[in-house]
Amino acid sequence: MISKHTSDLVRERADIEEVVGEYVPLKKKGQNLWACCPFHGEKTPSFSISPAKQIYKCFGCGKAGDPIQFIMDIEGIGFQEAIRHLAIKYGIEIEEDEKLTPEQNLEQNERESLFIALNFAKDFFVKNLETEEGRSIGLSYFKERGFTPQIIQKFDLGYALDGWDNLLKAAKNNGFQEDILLKAGLILQKEGDPSRLYDRFRNRVTFTIHNVSGKPIAFGARILTKDKNQPKYINSPETPVYHKSDVLYGIFQAKKSIRDKDNCYLVEGYTDVVSMHLSGIENVVASSGTSLTEGQIKLIKRFTNHVTVLYDGDSAGIKASLRGIDLLLEGGLHVKAVVFPDGEDPDSYSRKVGSQAFQEYLEQNSKDFIGFKIGLYKDEIAKDPIRKAEVIREVVQSIGKIPDPIVRSVYTKEASGLLQIEEEILLGELNKTMLKHQRDHFQKSKEEKEAEAALEELIPVKDPTISLDEVLSIQEKETIRLLLNYGLEKIGDEDLYLSQYLLSETEELEFKTPIYQKILFEYRSRLAKGEIPSIDIFTRHQDPEIQKEAIDLITPRHEVSHHWHERHQIFIHVESDDLASTAYKSILRLKRRLIMKMMDEAKNKIKSGEEKGEEPEKILEYQLIYMELKKVQYEIDKELGIVIG
Ligand code: UTP
Ligand code: MN
Repeated sequence: MISKHTSDLVRERADIEEVVGEYVPLKKKGQNLWACCPFHGEKTPSFSISPAKQIYKCFGCGKAGDPIQFIMDIEGIGFQEAIRHLAIKYGIEIEEDEKLTPEQNLEQNERESLFIALNFAKDFFVKNLETEEGRSIGLSYFKERGFTPQIIQKFDLGYALDGWDNLLKAAKNNGFQEDILLKAGLILQKEGDPSRLYDRFRNRVTFTIHNVSGKPIAFGARILTKDKNQPKYINSPETPVYHKSDVLYGIFQAKKSIRDKDNCYLVEGYTDVVSMHLSGIENVVASSGTSLTEGQIKLIKRFTNHVTVLYDGDSAGIKASLRGIDLLLEGGLHVKAVVFPDGEDPDSYSRKVGSQAFQEYLEQNSKDFIGFKIGLYKDEIAKDPIRKAEVIREVVQSIGKIPDPIVRSVYTKEASGLLQIEEEILLGELNKTMLKHQRDHFQKSKEEKEAEAALEELIPVKDPTISLDEVLSIQEKETIRLLLNYGLEKIGDEDLYLSQYLLSETEELEFKTPIYQKILFEYRSRLAKGEIPSIDIFTRHQDPEIQKEAIDLITPRHEVSHHWHERHQIFIHVESDDLASTAYKSILRLKRRLIMKMMDEAKNKIKSGEEKGEEPEKILEYQLIYMELKKVQYEIDKELGIVIG
């Protein structure tokens, strides 16, 4: 572990402008610097750098962070490695942390030892290809598959000799301990006699699995004989350095090309990856047998937001793996799919038709996921209307997973055409799915925010000269202001747009101030049609009232005296990076105002009821309503940290 002292030094020293400037040319515009985003392809700069805040943010793809994060993102490496990288750049001495607990130390040393042992095994397997046995069996197999010496080297392909303990012996001769070899998954204990050890990989060609920075962490090994009693592939087990669900085969060799092409092909196996490289396609990774995981999606997202899934031509298998597509969509990735002719996989097909035709096939047959998914069910739908309803629901669910509303609306339109069903109906379904989804999501961040809210803001003195209605109106205004200015910003860690959150939270509400109700209504109905209302819609609105209000709301607000707001207990946040909490509190305050207004109304009814001598039951009813409202207000106050205890 690099010491905290070192990482603090790096943090102090690393300058965002210098760090990013090494990768892309920067242009000064106002306070900030701008560039074409190095993370996604673009022609007009939407990648901004704030030297004052020492952060970068891309308004196109949403990537943002400090200099360390930038290095992690652009190099595709972890925090420790990024610190190391920057320390070297700035000539900072790297100090390893002495203050690890003994357990941490052991763990750290163990991981190091595992990496070294795995690297030794890799070298051993690679060198075996030069032995007589390796040449005649392993190398000739690779040649038969069309693998060139360069590709064999690029992927650290190798050969495990026939025999029980070739690796074990060699490793021990080189000073490796048995327990490390066991933990690395390289050797096994004999069943019933744990003191007898033997090699896991024997008499097979080996595929080295690298982590993203190129270290060998595991192996897959293919049998070459036709022995039906043996599995075709033997793979490393889970180890402290190999978590299958966070690893993609080929990521190290692919990462540069994935970033350059801004797309990642996803295939099933080792041979597909290697064959595609042979065909000149390098932006390809394999999930290696298992179904796709969140960890793997995160890994891809370090390099691109576009994935093209390549499917073998067998539709039963494809349908079984559709869940993977939903996961990709949920991760905010743009998904395409290519299906190969029956019985072909990328490996076999590329060898069959050659690189040129293979590349053309990919280009001509890649479909966006909607067309692909609906295409799969085409025959079933034609025969069976009930099945059609199911497919519609399923397609809508997939669309609902997409965090970007613009992309969602594009797909909804497309699905409407392909399924021959009115867009309105799909949108209705979609809204249902999404609101449910959002509520589930919001639950989480709410809990996180609780602690924070409790600490914030003391209650200012209440000003009796301002009416409840006025305060409510200002709080409504604040909600609309957030909506117009930040509707398209994502909030929290979840992929939730501020507009989605605000609209779902105000779903049952009517704003009391007519102008804000008008804007809210227009925003809602446009969003429901799948359109994302940009701020221009409102600032150029034909209704002059809306137009004036919108312009007013998008102009920076520091002209409004801070004191004034405080006196009247109206909280307008300084826009922090934490929009989620700003929005959350703003909604709470809005609701608080509404409730206070309702309490006021209830109180008036009680009073006038008593004056008019209304029936006691009637008055009691108002009193109960009042008490209920009071309870809710108390809950909200607690949430906002206004009440102590
Ligand atoms: P294949 O069966 O096509 O393997 O599986 P292959 O080596 O390409 O064999 P042939 O020459 O076409 O018959 C494709 C991928 O599925 C994974 C491997 O990653 C392989 O590259 N796989 C397959 C396993 O992990 N384990 C297995 O037992 C089989
Ligand atoms: Mn194959």
